[in-house]
Amino acid sequence: MSASNVFPIDLKSDTVTKPSAAMRKIMSEAEVGDDVYGEDPTVALLERTAAKLLGKEAALYVTSGTQGNLVSLLTHCAKGDGALVGKDCHILNYEGYGLAVLGGIAPLQVDDAKSLPSIEELERAIPAKGNVHFAQAKLLCIENTHNRGGGHASKPQEVYARVEWAHKNGLSVHMDGARLFNATAAIGVTPSEMVKGVDSVQICLSKGLGAPMGSLICSSGDFVDRARYWRKKLGGGLRQAGIVAAAGLYALEHNVARLKDDHDNAALIKDALQKGGLRVSEVGRPTNMIYFSAKNEAEADKLLAACRAREVIFNKTDPYTFRLATHLDVSREQAETAASVIVGEYQKLG
Ligand SMILES: Cc1ncc(COP(=O)(O)O)c(C=O)c1O
Repeated sequence: MSASNVFPIDLKSDTVTKPSAAMRKIMSEAEVGDDVYGEDPTVALLERTAAKLLGKEAALYVTSGTQGNLVSLLTHCAKGDGALVGKDCHILNYEGYGLAVLGGIAPLQVDDAKSLPSIEELERAIPAKGNVHFAQAKLLCIENTHNRGGGHASKPQEVYARVEWAHKNGLSVHMDGARLFNATAAIGVTPSEMVKGVDSVQICLSKGLGAPMGSLICSSGDFVDRARYWRKKLGGGLRQAGIVAAAGLYALEHNVARLKDDHDNAALIKDALQKGGLRVSEVGRPTNMIYFSAKNEAEADKLLAACRAREVIFNKTDPYTFRLATHLDVSREQAETAASVIVGEYQKLG
């Protein structure tokens, strides 16, 4: 077996990547200080680097995507305010309702049709201004790429149209850009072009970029100053965080340009699964994810177990739908092998 075809082939998420030897070396040499006192030069450099990349004034290093979204929402909204959030978005489905539980922010749900909500849908969902029966909307949250939408990448013009609508209606816009660089790689635009006009953006370093942890909130200087208070209240004030921030800097420098490889590997797997008779969800502008289905739950469980036994790992997202994500630690050869294992095991089920 060649070195690039080692098992297990773990496709359950792009969060499973392990820091490379080069990344670990940079981490071990990082200059550090106490970041709560603002004395960690590596954190400061990471924040400046991210802000510049996204064309924003400032950035704040936070522990995770969930913390980045929560800190951003708490900074935008006061208790009792409403935030328009997609029914399928990560903030609503996978972050423990932190916005409501910890922030007292009312989630005003809109149909995001596995990408961005349409303007008509936003018009329908925004509560009437000045009507005391309703939580008043202060924020629109959008997600790019869209996780539940199969990793669909939205285009800058589509983002701008939502931003324009939100600002016209007195709302700010927060983008959950956990996989922003997958979106920009798929569309072929710069990150700053993609988020122009967006008031705050959360980007993850721990997904396709391969860092062990960390996210950044990118926004105006004033917003970041206020967000810093919320981060501290949530226990996110870190001390010698330069050790991990160094991994983030390495990731931004070395692992953004290669995201196209992950997209190509996902396309290869998708094609093979379709040819092998599996039902694969169509995604408008795909990136590094594939959602596919078995005929029923029993068949899905058998397929999952058979693939696991052969060390090809992925998860179910509902009783008979699976999700695969390609990433830094999956080579072309592993992608080919995984596809042939899945198809082979599926065909054995008859
Ligand atoms: C779209 C999206 N937003 C936010 C997050 C949360 O990130 P974290 O796991 O770092 O809290 C995830 C995690 O997978 C995600 O997919």
